[in-house]
Amino acid sequence: MIPPHKVDEILSAARIDEVIGEFVNLKRSGSSLKGLSPWSDEKTPSFMVSPAKGIFKDFSSGKGGNVVTFIMEHEHFTYPEALRWLAKRYNVEVEEEKPSPEQEEARNERESLYVINEFARNWFAEKMWESDEGKNIGLSYFKERGFKESAIQKFQLGYNPDYFQAFTDTSKEAGYKDKYLLATGLVKEKNGRFYDGYKGRVIFPIHNLSGRVIGFGGRTLKADKNIPKYINSPENAIYDKSNSLYGLYFAKQSIAKEDNCYLVEGYTDVISFHQKGIENTVASSGTALTKDQIKLIARYSQNITLVYDGDPAGIKASLRGIDLILEQGMNVKVILLPDNHDPDSFSKENDRIEIKEYLGKNAQDFIAFKAALLMEDAAGDPIKTNDVVHAMVNSIALIPDSILRSIYVNECSRLMNISESALISELNKSLRKNHKQQYKGSSRRNEDFIEAPVIKTDFNEEKKFADDTIEHQERDILRIMINYHDQKFRMSQPLDEVQTEELNVLDFLLDEIEGDDLIFETPSYRELFSEVSKEYDEKLKFDQNFFIHHEKETIRSLFVDLMTFPYNLDNWARMEIFVTSEDQKLRRAVIESLFAYKSKRVERMIRDNQAAMKDSTTLGSDPTPFLEKQMKLESIKREINKTLGRTVLH
Ligand code: CTP
Ligand code: MN
Repeated sequence: MIPPHKVDEILSAARIDEVIGEFVNLKRSGSSLKGLSPWSDEKTPSFMVSPAKGIFKDFSSGKGGNVVTFIMEHEHFTYPEALRWLAKRYNVEVEEEKPSPEQEEARNERESLYVINEFARNWFAEKMWESDEGKNIGLSYFKERGFKESAIQKFQLGYNPDYFQAFTDTSKEAGYKDKYLLATGLVKEKNGRFYDGYKGRVIFPIHNLSGRVIGFGGRTLKADKNIPKYINSPENAIYDKSNSLYGLYFAKQSIAKEDNCYLVEGYTDVISFHQKGIENTVASSGTALTKDQIKLIARYSQNITLVYDGDPAGIKASLRGIDLILEQGMNVKVILLPDNHDPDSFSKENDRIEIKEYLGKNAQDFIAFKAALLMEDAAGDPIKTNDVVHAMVNSIALIPDSILRSIYVNECSRLMNISESALISELNKSLRKNHKQQYKGSSRRNEDFIEAPVIKTDFNEEKKFADDTIEHQERDILRIMINYHDQKFRMSQPLDEVQTEELNVLDFLLDEIEGDDLIFETPSYRELFSEVSKEYDEKLKFDQNFFIHHEKETIRSLFVDLMTFPYNLDNWARMEIFVTSEDQKLRRAVIESLFAYKSKRVERMIRDNQAAMKDSTTLGSDPTPFLEKQMKLESIKREINKTLGRTVLH
């Protein structure tokens, strides 16, 4: 744990232009610096750094943030790793809190296990490449399987001789303690006798993210059905099965670059894909996919593609994994290999180009995949079909993004021939259920429910929808909130007889919008707005760094976008040459953006009311309530315009 005052010290020592300058060639351009994006192969620079604001923005990939975020993104570091990197760069002494004796002991244990694993990996490799038994049995097995020497070396494969105490004797001679040897599972004990845990097996070392060996898989070479095909390391102080993925150390750069991760079943599938040049491949090694494993992948890409042999049991088992991925807000696709091939056997029969082409062409969206799979089972049976609909809707309900949910509802309705409104009503039930579980007993409002009709995915429809929104006004308000949050202004000009009190920009805008129960229509703006409001309520202060650093990528990049194009106060003053002070410009900007937004909202309510009135009179009902509402709305609109006129134009 790095203590908070140290974090502050590191952040104030680190200069963003210097740090990024180590990785990207930057040239001055006005008050900022420009360079080529480190995340894409661009020719014209679209990567900007603002030393004054302490942020960067990469317009080609959309990434943006502060100096820590840059190091995290560029080096694929965690937050503490990035801080340590910066501390080292700026000679900030990070005295981690003094470890207790227990912590000291735990550290010794972890270090000892790493050292033994490294020793073992080297010894298994040496035995395989250099001893006769190793060459004839271990190495020749891998070669028969079609593994090239380069792949065998890259993955540091090895062989444990087929002798009761081969590794045990060597490791004891080397002086390693029994308790640590036993914890690795490489040595076992029965009735006081020690013997090899991986006797006569070929060895697959398992690495952590920094390339250290945390465990081993060992495959038997015997056909005997009574012995386990694989032996895997027991969990210990350095090996946490549910939080590691086989091959990730070798795959991470490629996952980031390709912006996709292939998830396969086992050791041999990973190695086969890698040696065919498909390096963005990892395996969960025999265990069901866990949330932690998905989060590991999410550090490099939001896209996961599951690759399966066509075995129905295996596919069914994968459905839960799909739901877990959706829940993390990530995108998931599925590829079924032909003729019951697994990735290993498939790569043996096809060359690199054929494999890439097959993978490219056969990636199915999870919705299509799951619907087809379940519908086939239901085979027209109405009760079973009903279950399928529920299963589909439950999956969709896990997706955090509401637009994506709408799109899937639309697709699902098409695929299963069920009306959208029926699906939406089921979906809302499911959302409500999830929501209740999340906030037990709390009365928080869930703004996520979709109201029928949902957004259409058809391009023209979408465009019409976009033109019709008040996205522009919402964006203006957010920009002002973020860039001028701590500034003060007054509702009327200082020359007025009555001095109004000074207002804080952020307080004022939050109160005005929430007080009127207005909810932003643009989903990403709505998300940011409510996050700003929640943060401000909780901490009673507004810290830009919290958002630049936000755990959600969508919030981070929107926030930096809004910061990078600060609101130009002059736009609002251009009609009146006498208004020059920054104070007055800010007042105009705040008030006009707010009231322009409110006015637009009311106009739309008026329009909707008129349409409803028309519908109801066609049906012969009494238009009076609509007329009354109409008058109320008109008067609100006049009020708004009056305020706008009074405070801005005079
Ligand atoms: N596995 C395991 N224990 C077993 C069988 C399988 O841990 N008894 C895990 C291994 O991680 C293995 C994966 O499940 O890699 C997939 O199993 P399988 O397809 O049987 O193994 P492969 O690695 O494909 O091995 P091979 O092709 O040599 O049969
Ligand atoms: Mn296999």
